[in-house]
Amino acid sequence: MPRKTMFVALRDLSTKDCVLAVAVTHWIFNRREPADPRILFVLLLLVPAATSLLLFLHYGTILGTVLAFSIYHASLIFSVVLYRTSPFHPLARYPGPFLAKVTRLYWTRIALAGRQHIEIGRLFDKYGDAVRIGPNEVHFRDVSVMQAMLGSKGMPKGPMWEGRALKTPILPLVGLRDNTTHSRRRKPWNRAFSSAALKNYVPVMAKRGSQFVELLAERREVDFVHCVHMFTFDFMADALFGGGSEVMKDDDKDGMARSVKTSFLDSQIYEHLPWLASLARHIPGVGEKIKRFRAMCTQRGISRLEKGSSTKDLFYWLSNEDGSEKENPSRSLILSDSALAIIAGSDTTATVLSILVYCLLAHPETYERLQAEVDKFYPSEEDSLDPKHFSKMPYLEAVINETMRLYPVLPSGSQRSPERGSGGFFASQHFIPEWTSVRIPIWCLHRDPRNFTRPDEFWPERWLIMDGLEPHSEVLTHDMNAFVPFSFGPRNCVGKNLAMLEMKVVAVHMLQRLQLRFRKDFDPTRWEHVMEDRFNLLVAELPIVVERRF
Ligand code: HEM
Repeated sequence: MPRKTMFVALRDLSTKDCVLAVAVTHWIFNRREPADPRILFVLLLLVPAATSLLLFLHYGTILGTVLAFSIYHASLIFSVVLYRTSPFHPLARYPGPFLAKVTRLYWTRIALAGRQHIEIGRLFDKYGDAVRIGPNEVHFRDVSVMQAMLGSKGMPKGPMWEGRALKTPILPLVGLRDNTTHSRRRKPWNRAFSSAALKNYVPVMAKRGSQFVELLAERREVDFVHCVHMFTFDFMADALFGGGSEVMKDDDKDGMARSVKTSFLDSQIYEHLPWLASLARHIPGVGEKIKRFRAMCTQRGISRLEKGSSTKDLFYWLSNEDGSEKENPSRSLILSDSALAIIAGSDTTATVLSILVYCLLAHPETYERLQAEVDKFYPSEEDSLDPKHFSKMPYLEAVINETMRLYPVLPSGSQRSPERGSGGFFASQHFIPEWTSVRIPIWCLHRDPRNFTRPDEFWPERWLIMDGLEPHSEVLTHDMNAFVPFSFGPRNCVGKNLAMLEMKVVAVHMLQRLQLRFRKDFDPTRWEHVMEDRFNLLVAELPIVVERRF
């Protein structure tokens, strides 16, 4: 064959090969979402490198390589963008910003700025109750859709959880993507936080609650957020591992309590770009804080397992010390939930308690009314760490509920995705195709006037009115199905009852013993506006002045 003809043939061959390679790569990315670095290496580097060999003869080594890589990657990007914005994409019927359809980076940027909860509300107002916020993700603001998607026949957890867990081989309970495995692994957790088991945590709750209130009283001027995070960290260590933490005593000198926050902040990028987690997992130095935090939690779990149980803590149930299961779970399976338990149990409750104190101090009439209820059932001689009167305190419950309604601690909710191999999921008129995900932002459900009258107002009385405990002339909208601070369905928050009890014990003991007020130079009007949605709600410092009441 003459040289010139050969070059043309090679060029044609390489173009065809390139197009074919791009099409196959696109298909693989679309169907399989590969995150394994070895597969990524083959698809993104090896394949274009192979096609560049065909261009060497014609263009030389350097230009051939540059051309092959440029053509391959440009065509791949072009074909991906074209498909994602085309009417053939399975989520094409859902409206949303153009850039959100094109790339996941659109929403990642908003998430990393902590503005998801605000931005999604704006998009719902613009596009309606279903918005496509990513190439493969839709968010809904609709109670009936939420019930179908999160309910007993709903979808499993979505890929965000694998990302947050840095793609560990054994996922924690919260990230399990198969409903059967999830419900099996959830059983010991349900036993650990059943009404009967809850009583086992009361003594440590009382001990730590009392230590916390003393700490506030002694310091007199504190950042409430920092102090309450130390309290929940120590309490959770007792409740999960039977002890092992004294951060309140040493003012978190080793940064243990603070590391919870750092760890979940650092996980945020992997939540939105789960494929990045596979890389981070394998690259030394990347995701270091998360890895260190996880190792610290695992170490605590190991020490606890070696020691055996002295109380009926969470590990008592997880390691089948109660003998409910025929077979004991493997040690690595038990340990995989160590970090989840600390993060899920400590930061959430601490944040709600911080916001509760903020709401009380920003609304003196609510503070006064709750104080009166506490004083009625827990006068100074009554043990305020004993929950025996809580069931007769509707205002306490109303204030906590209203705090979590207005400021749900997981504002964007938890992701769900159709079961692998299922083909997709139907929820009322919506079809959610496989390989796509959904979320129901709790913040938006709670602030939707179709669910709650005057949704942006802190108004605990609404709960009393709806329970028939207080008269009111206006007809109120108050959809209890839309109130989901702990999420909904069989994969919701398993620690809900423990959290409610813990928050009540702390609130009552604090109000019985202490008088709180904002530090003089603090501007409460700004505080709400600097809250960030970092998956958990992140709140700023809350400087308060504390005085003993007696
Ligand atoms: C006010 C405090 C709390 C709030 C608002 C809260 C909220 C939530 C939410 C919204 C979820 C996501 C559920 C889903 O995927 O649909 C969750 C999951 C979870 N929470 Fe909580 N939580 C709180 C306290 C606790 C406590 C004290 C624990 C105790 C360890 C805990 C343990 C868990 C666990 C283990 C999960 C995963 C459940 C599963 O996937 O089956 N949480 N929580």
